[in-house]
Amino acid sequence: MSSIMFLTSKSAFFIVVSLLLIPLFIIPSTIATPVTIQLKSSKSHVSRHPLLGRSTVSEPLADWFDGTDLQWYGDIQVGTPSQNLTVVFDTGSSNVLIPSTGCTANPGCGSLRHKFDPSKSDTFNTSNLPFFTVFATGTGVQSSDMETVEGIIVQDAISVAGLTVDNFQFGLIQNQSAGFANDPFDGIMGMAFSGDLTVGTNTFLGALNSTGQVDQALYGLYLTPESIGNAEISIGGVDASKYTSDIYYFPVNSTTGLFTIKFDSVYVNKQNTNITSAPAIIDSGTANIVAPTNQTAQAIYSLISPDIKPVDNMGTYGIPCTKLDQLNSIISFIIGGQNYTIPSQELSVGPIPGQPDICQTLISAGGGFWIIGASLLKYYYSVWDIGNVQFGLARTAHSPGLPF
Ligand SMILES: *[C@@H]1O[C@H](CO)[C@@H](O)[C@H](O)[C@H]1NC(C)=O
Ligand SMILES: *[C@@H]1O[C@H](CO)[C@@H](O)[C@H](O)[C@H]1NC(C)=O
Ligand SMILES: *[C@@H]1O[C@H](CO)[C@@H](O)[C@H](O)[C@H]1NC(C)=O
Ligand SMILES: *[C@@H]1O[C@H](CO)[C@@H](O)[C@H](O)[C@H]1NC(C)=O
Ligand SMILES: *[C@@H]1O[C@H](CO)[C@@H](O)[C@H](O)[C@H]1NC(C)=O
Ligand SMILES: *[C@@H]1O[C@H](CO)[C@@H](O)[C@H](O)[C@H]1NC(C)=O
Ligand SMILES: *[C@@H]1O[C@H](CO)[C@@H](O)[C@H](O)[C@H]1NC(C)=O
Ligand SMILES: *[C@@H]1O[C@H](CO)[C@@H](O)[C@H](O)[C@H]1NC(C)=O
Repeated sequence: MSSIMFLTSKSAFFIVVSLLLIPLFIIPSTIATPVTIQLKSSKSHVSRHPLLGRSTVSEPLADWFDGTDLQWYGDIQVGTPSQNLTVVFDTGSSNVLIPSTGCTANPGCGSLRHKFDPSKSDTFNTSNLPFFTVFATGTGVQSSDMETVEGIIVQDAISVAGLTVDNFQFGLIQNQSAGFANDPFDGIMGMAFSGDLTVGTNTFLGALNSTGQVDQALYGLYLTPESIGNAEISIGGVDASKYTSDIYYFPVNSTTGLFTIKFDSVYVNKQNTNITSAPAIIDSGTANIVAPTNQTAQAIYSLISPDIKPVDNMGTYGIPCTKLDQLNSIISFIIGGQNYTIPSQELSVGPIPGQPDICQTLISAGGGFWIIGASLLKYYYSVWDIGNVQFGLARTAHSPGLPF
């Protein structure tokens, strides 16, 4: 469903900086039927007890920082004996996509740090069925067209933090387009709902759950600004040492297979932008914030600075870098009555390639719906509860309004 929406608004997705790791268009071997799940009351509920499952495992994530935090990625092991690769844990998609040693075409495959060599794995099996996926993916601070990933559907053992799924079905990447050339990570591990799956029968987390290796089909993400460090993913539970408040949970609409929540309102400082309550995809694979239209982006920017203007026809906004000092505004999303704030220093995401005097600003426009990405997630602890179809946020020691 999201594929169709994206395709009707192609031009809106030439977005600088955001890593929209949301599949746009897929030719799958099977198309998963979306499941409609009734939403609970829109009020948040609070968990006073840490959800520490016996089986919770955590692993550190590296921060890809290029003037601004772009992505967080970690190690996985593939095959027997295991081969190490790195993946982005992408809450905005569900497929697991791993580059093959057969992925050699430049520039898309040329810079991959690690590739999986199926000929060296005793447990590898292939269906020889092709897959083809399109992501709206930009890397670094460069504009990007929609990016393609293609390969074949295969099976092998995959492990994360010591949890292993044997004969896991995933996409073996044989070619990918240039937008992936600068990524420091190798593959993508989709962490959304099974409704967004196109190259497998189960998500990795779903397979851990169905083999009884996790107590709960959920995971916690501690994505942090580079200056804070210690980013981490916890699988099967949360890491209570990383947050300092209760966890507030919000109902998720998983119809599209992604985490869609609804915010109540958007404030700039203490002023209401009067943007109406709207659904928003929460996506760890998107670095910044995407507003659905120019008007909604401008409703926010009008309360920040008259100098923030569109810099292209692709939905990118910017300001002369010399005027960055004047930007001293915080943007708050009120969700379930709670205030989640993006601090002022996030407003600039760095100089625009080819226009070094212009600095890109946080919010891009286009696509027809909201995407709340890492710019907000990295100031809170986030809980992605697939089993109970809910999303949770808790304060951290570096959340806005508390001393860093
Ligand atoms: C894979 O990484 C682990 C630690 O992350 C290391 O102990 C191991 O030697 C690595 N294996 C290979 C084949 O590089
Ligand atoms: C290998 O994959 C094929 C097609 O997906 C399947 O029919 C076959 O059972 C698999 N073989 C093993 C040993 O898993
Ligand atoms: C790889 O993909 C690119 C664009 O996505 C295409 O131009 C190129 O021909 C492909 N290379 C191979 C070997 O398939
Ligand atoms: C959930 O999302 C779908 C697809 O965007 C939409 O059609 C449906 O109305 C939403 N459900 C609720 C209860 O908002
Ligand atoms: C939002 O609406 C209130 C009440 O109508 C109004 O006072 C305020 O100026 C509006 N804010 C903006 C940014 O338009
Ligand atoms: C949004 O603004 C940009 C820059 O002014 C413009 O090129 C684009 O056409 C606008 N999009 C829409 C849908 O109006
Ligand atoms: C997790 O596993 C349990 C027990 O097999 C099952 O009832 C439940 O539906 C699974 N949940 C998910 C999200 O896969
Ligand atoms: C949200 O919280 C921030 C501090 O964390 C505060 O400055 C701001 O005024 C609050 N906004 C609203 C609308 O309560």
